[in-house]
Amino acid sequence: MPNIVIVGTQWGDEGKGKIVHLLANDADMIVRYQGGANAGHTVINDHAQYTFHMIPSGIVHPGKTCILGNGMVIDPAALLEEIFLLESQQIAVRENFFISHRAHLILPYHRAIERENEKLKGPRRIGTTGRGIGPSYADKMGRTGIRMGDLLDPNCFREILKANLAEMNLFFNRLYDAESMDLDGIFETYCAYGKRLKNHVTDVSLLINNAIDQSKTVLFEGAQGTHLDVDHGTYPFVTSSNSTAGGACTGTGVGPTCINEVVGVTKAYTTRVGSGPFPTELTGDTGNGLRTRGNEFGATTGRPRRCGWYDAVAVKYAVRVNGLSSLAVTKLDVLDGEPEIKICTSYLHDGKHYTDIPINEAAINSCEPVYEVLEGWDHPTSGITSYQKLPDPAKRFIEKIEALAGCKVDIVSTGSHEKETIIRRNPLAAKK
Ligand code: GDP
Ligand code: IMO
Ligand code: MG
Repeated sequence: MPNIVIVGTQWGDEGKGKIVHLLANDADMIVRYQGGANAGHTVINDHAQYTFHMIPSGIVHPGKTCILGNGMVIDPAALLEEIFLLESQQIAVRENFFISHRAHLILPYHRAIERENEKLKGPRRIGTTGRGIGPSYADKMGRTGIRMGDLLDPNCFREILKANLAEMNLFFNRLYDAESMDLDGIFETYCAYGKRLKNHVTDVSLLINNAIDQSKTVLFEGAQGTHLDVDHGTYPFVTSSNSTAGGACTGTGVGPTCINEVVGVTKAYTTRVGSGPFPTELTGDTGNGLRTRGNEFGATTGRPRRCGWYDAVAVKYAVRVNGLSSLAVTKLDVLDGEPEIKICTSYLHDGKHYTDIPINEAAINSCEPVYEVLEGWDHPTSGITSYQKLPDPAKRFIEKIEALAGCKVDIVSTGSHEKETIIRRNPLAAKK
């Protein structure tokens, strides 16, 4: 069976959780490879609604192995809370769950620094999720990070924490005019987390590669989206990790030759949370209508999502930088009732048309989206499970997406429930 990566093609919240959960039915192992509790992935089935922040969405299926890769940044308190919540929903997170010893930790000073930084940034504020993600990745790259494995060795943990706090407290006292953080308090709290989590911590690269050697199917679950990727996104209005497909290799210790397919999840329109450019944003009634019908409020922070038309320039770029082999279009039903539907086919800036993301920030910030207008559909698509049954204008919309992206749409989602889905080709059924 093939190993596949699932990524977001836009600015996150494309419906990755639903698609991962669906495909996980045919997988043995589901692996998160980047990000942390900034993600909010929703799964709805006959039993309940689940929101995942760090734990892979595939955990809803009993018997699947779920893994947090080395590319993640883990807040142990948030993780323990998520485990507790899932167990209260009868989802077992036990011997089927592993955490990389190389994954980095989020510490209280990361969240505090992020708060202060965002305040100081003024209009260039990113509008982060406030989970300490950026400062934890900054420490990782600055080589002062503390890793999951360090928690299992209290002496080593205390030594690094002490050195880090000596530096951090200088920032807090002198720059931010804030109180120092207490070494003993953090040390004890985190050692207790370490004790609770230690049985899950292991070399996950070994686990995943062993599974691949045994012809098991591994599904890599991306968080955020292509345009939030720290390298390929709308920098600096991005998250601090590689949310694109390449992150699946560096974030787990699996080589690129092991990946057979990359599926891009794309909403039938576009949303974004936080600051940064958004060429097709709609600030009037049409945007408000999409927000209400699509229930576009953050799964992590509850913030209203900015809404706009489908941006084919952004998705074509995602096809390229992720090497997508397949697209899954979600939330088609949210467009039900729109008399006409717009697709952005290029950006216009200074008299020039761009069909690829322009290289200068000014162009993407102030471009005019150029639209192709398609006819809407009278009959609702909500809940339809067969492509043939879609109204003709909805099929033409899907075919237009395929043509502009240069990539097949294999899955169409017509509702939030797992069953409200059209599967034209299951990427996991493809031959290796
Ligand atoms: P993710 O972060 O990419 O996993 O996406 P989120 O879970 O944050 O946001 C997607 C939202 O849309 C969730 O509330 C899903 O339940 C919902 N959803 C997913 N697919 C569909 C769909 O096809 N139609 C509708 N109406 N809702 C959907
Ligand atoms: P899922 O996995 C949507 C956005 C934040 C902010 C920027 C940086 O559910 O699609 P961060 O806290 O990561 O430093 O914030 O990235 N952001 C997301 N937006 N969905 C997400 O995850 C996001 N994770 C981060 O709003 O603009
Ligand atoms: Mg989300």
